[in-house]
Amino acid sequence: MQSNRNSQTAGQLTKTNIMVNILKIKVNEMKGQILKALRECSDYLSGETLSNKLGTSRVSIWKQIRSLKKEGYIIEASPKGYKLISYPDLLFPYEFPDLEQRIHYFPEIGSTMDAARELAKKGAGEGTIVIAEVQTRGRGRLSREWLSPKGGIYFTLLLRPRISPAYAPRINLMASVAVAATIRKLFGLKAELKWPNDVLIEGRKVCGILAEMDAEMDVVNFVNVGIGINANTSVPQFAKTATSLKDVLGREISRKEFLSVLFREIEQQQALLMETDLIKEWKELSGTLNKYVRILSPGEVIVGRAIDIDTTGALIIRKRNGSLKKALAGDCIHLREEAPDTDI
Ligand code: BTN
Repeated sequence: MQSNRNSQTAGQLTKTNIMVNILKIKVNEMKGQILKALRECSDYLSGETLSNKLGTSRVSIWKQIRSLKKEGYIIEASPKGYKLISYPDLLFPYEFPDLEQRIHYFPEIGSTMDAARELAKKGAGEGTIVIAEVQTRGRGRLSREWLSPKGGIYFTLLLRPRISPAYAPRINLMASVAVAATIRKLFGLKAELKWPNDVLIEGRKVCGILAEMDAEMDVVNFVNVGIGINANTSVPQFAKTATSLKDVLGREISRKEFLSVLFREIEQQQALLMETDLIKEWKELSGTLNKYVRILSPGEVIVGRAIDIDTTGALIIRKRNGSLKKALAGDCIHLREEAPDTDI
């Protein structure tokens, strides 16, 4: 009896959740359309024009404008209509037209990885995105903490590629190529890739990528790709291994613009996931190839010169004695010069 009632309640809740989600999507769409119309218009836009454009009542336009104002949009209202004066650099779903239905937005969350995992387990589709302005339990690779204060960009993208788990590391390559390409395109900075999936500027880490996979022996169920970018955060001077876009550029960036471009780049790179071009692009952007490296991988340390990556994304290292070694995972340290064999 007890369990029956529970499952009934769970069923009803699920239906309620679905309704709430549909409503959220509708509201997000409407807000997106209002913002688009206001941005396209240099003057005041009347409530009537907006309501005709969106096919909705003037009251519901007014309600959404009121809600946008609460979120930090400065919208002037006069008898002539509405005018967008300024907007906050927040990553609301409706700031990404065409994607807003796939975006789950949180002003604050433990980790976008946890939310994305939950969504994936409930059957959320390929391309679902979880964005947070702040994470209180952000995590990095190898169980490290990922500090996620306001001003950074934190999101997880849910993918369901039809590939064998052995090729899953290519998703890291794909994501890191997309981030580096975005930084190069928008700011002309020489962003480089450090194997397996860090993005560096002037040798300092500006972005970290964490991929979590759910798979069976021969097929991937889903991969959640978490991307953290030090955007408008300041990295303490003593943290010599990290930097932020703000610190490098000496000004704040538009996180919204960055993310819009990054989403487009990811989409392009996704098409190359199993193509040789992805490896080619990674190699062109790589700051690891041809460097002496020390790889701390589970159970062993590999020292030598990084000479290539293979089709699964594994790093190939030529050791001092000339033998070749493959690193499938681990931490990579770039060395200034050849290190002695004692490290091996
Ligand atoms: C690393 O370099 O160690 C990977 C860092 C990954 C951080 C991102 S931020 C968004 C997503 N949510 C998390 O908790 N971690 C990833």
